[in-house]
Amino acid sequence: MPSPLQIAFRAGATGAWRIDRIAPVIGESLAPAERLAVTDGSGAAEPGTLWSLRGTTSNTRYATRTEVRTLASRQEGLGRPTASRAALIPIRKTDTWWSLAQDERRVIFEEQSRHIRIGLDTLPGVARRLHHSRELGEPFDFLTWFEYAPEHADAFETMVARLRDTPEWRYVDREVDIRLIRA
Ligand code: HEM
Repeated sequence: MPSPLQIAFRAGATGAWRIDRIAPVIGESLAPAERLAVTDGSGAAEPGTLWSLRGTTSNTRYATRTEVRTLASRQEGLGRPTASRAALIPIRKTDTWWSLAQDERRVIFEEQSRHIRIGLDTLPGVARRLHHSRELGEPFDFLTWFEYAPEHADAFETMVARLRDTPEWRYVDREVDIRLIRA
């Protein structure tokens, strides 16, 4: 397990990703912007930033050894030249979710919702990185990031729709869907 990375997603006039659309899924949206920069999150906010979300990579919470092994055998890394599309989906979960015990959350996450099983269907076409924000006092608990080539866009949409239809999503109380094209 590599050391945690601190990442900031900064919306403004500059950045390697052009913002195609920002759509509220549950709750309040985020302000429109031209570009998104994915940068080191340890520094101060830069001038001209419209909004900025910070998160850190972390250890796994729910995936079992078998699932970790399966994921590792199928997933590809970020930054593939063919992956010209990306999605940043910030998510906040309810107080009820956070008051559950770890084993109860795991049951909802995988035994009931099949989150990993559903996600695996899109690998290796979709590359992903999960960032945790809750402990940083941020407006979202998670910043989920995905990169894929245009030919995998339909599979990505199907997968997102399936996830949003699961019992896990009853515990989501804010979600914004930001789609990006490599500039
Ligand atoms: C967590 C896999 C797509 C949102 C996780 C975890 C895995 C995973 C293994 C658990 C990590 C741990 O053990 O702590 C996948 C795969 C996907 C995928 C393989 C397909 C590429 C998505 C999508 C979204 C999403 C499209 C959002 C719409 C989340 C969130 C968590 C999470 C919010 C954190 C859950 C929590 O800790 O409460 N995902 N996922 N995932 N994923 Fe996904």
